[in-house]
Amino acid sequence: MEKQIEELRSNAIAAIDKAAKSLNDLNDIRVKYLGKKGELTSILRGMGKLSAEDRPRIGQIVNKARQELEDLIAEKNEQLKQEELETRLINERIDVTLPGRTNPHGHIHPLTLTLLQIKEIFMRMGFSVEEGPEIEKDYYNFEALNLPKDHPARDMQDSFYITEDILMRSQTSPVQARTMEAHEPNSPIRMIAPGRVYRRDDYDATHSPMFTQVEGMVIDKGISLADLKGTLETFLKQTFGPKVKVRFRPSFFPFTEPSAEVDISCVMCKGKGCRVCKGTGWLEILGSGMIHPNVLKMSGYDPEQVSGFAFGMGVERIAMLVYGIDDLRLFYDNDLRFLKQF
Ligand code: DAH
Repeated sequence: MEKQIEELRSNAIAAIDKAAKSLNDLNDIRVKYLGKKGELTSILRGMGKLSAEDRPRIGQIVNKARQELEDLIAEKNEQLKQEELETRLINERIDVTLPGRTNPHGHIHPLTLTLLQIKEIFMRMGFSVEEGPEIEKDYYNFEALNLPKDHPARDMQDSFYITEDILMRSQTSPVQARTMEAHEPNSPIRMIAPGRVYRRDDYDATHSPMFTQVEGMVIDKGISLADLKGTLETFLKQTFGPKVKVRFRPSFFPFTEPSAEVDISCVMCKGKGCRVCKGTGWLEILGSGMIHPNVLKMSGYDPEQVSGFAFGMGVERIAMLVYGIDDLRLFYDNDLRFLKQF
């Protein structure tokens, strides 16, 4: 019996010392010898069969061996834990001297920025912001704007047709008719409609087959040319500064009568004459006019009851003048060196 205990004890000690390479191994060894069904435990269980004089002596030996093994296991446990911690510290070491990874900040695109500023100015004057589709019906893009099929003014906006009756819109003006149709006839409207437009155009420093416009339209009882002038002057002074001069020139658009081209004093030379304004001191900035009675009529409004004005401008052109950009293509090149400046 004593020999059996001694053998068991020395096997267990050797196992703890050599075989246990991890906390899991050690636990297996503990279960094997000291667990409920372990080898030492089963010896203790068999004690009942011993004679009365052997029992206390053997009991002492077993308990001593048990205590010894428990202590060794506890010690080994600490050691293994320490070792595991150390390997983790080495493997998971972070080099705090490495430069940090930064999240680069995005920039609002200069066109978006300009559009936001335009919207803000008009929203302060009580305008709503409307939207229309970029793939548009010929009816809204031309017909409802007093440009019937054979009208020569269509040539200027020779556009991308998808079918005979559907095209990429060549202007934001179709949102005029769409907005009127969405309202009760003759009810007041004060809206702008920003968006992309498409024309069969070259791609150079001042042209692009895709660009951005903002349409505007005001309809109510008694709207006059004075309202048009006041609104556009307010907008232009807030965009280009209070000192900018605004000039209205007679012009022609099929959907307005009378029509006016609006110029501002050149923002580069302050009106003295330079390369940008081609020596004239003035820059053409938008088209406008009093809404043609036919346009009102076609969308269910009565020109005898109400009147209105409309205007349209190119956002790229405004952004170029505000920020002093001399090539329109920079807006679409996605060159971060350019975009980061805004
Ligand atoms: N749609 C015109 C264009 O693209 C711009 C324009 C001119 C819009 C006069 C208007 C307007 O609403 O009244 O050239």
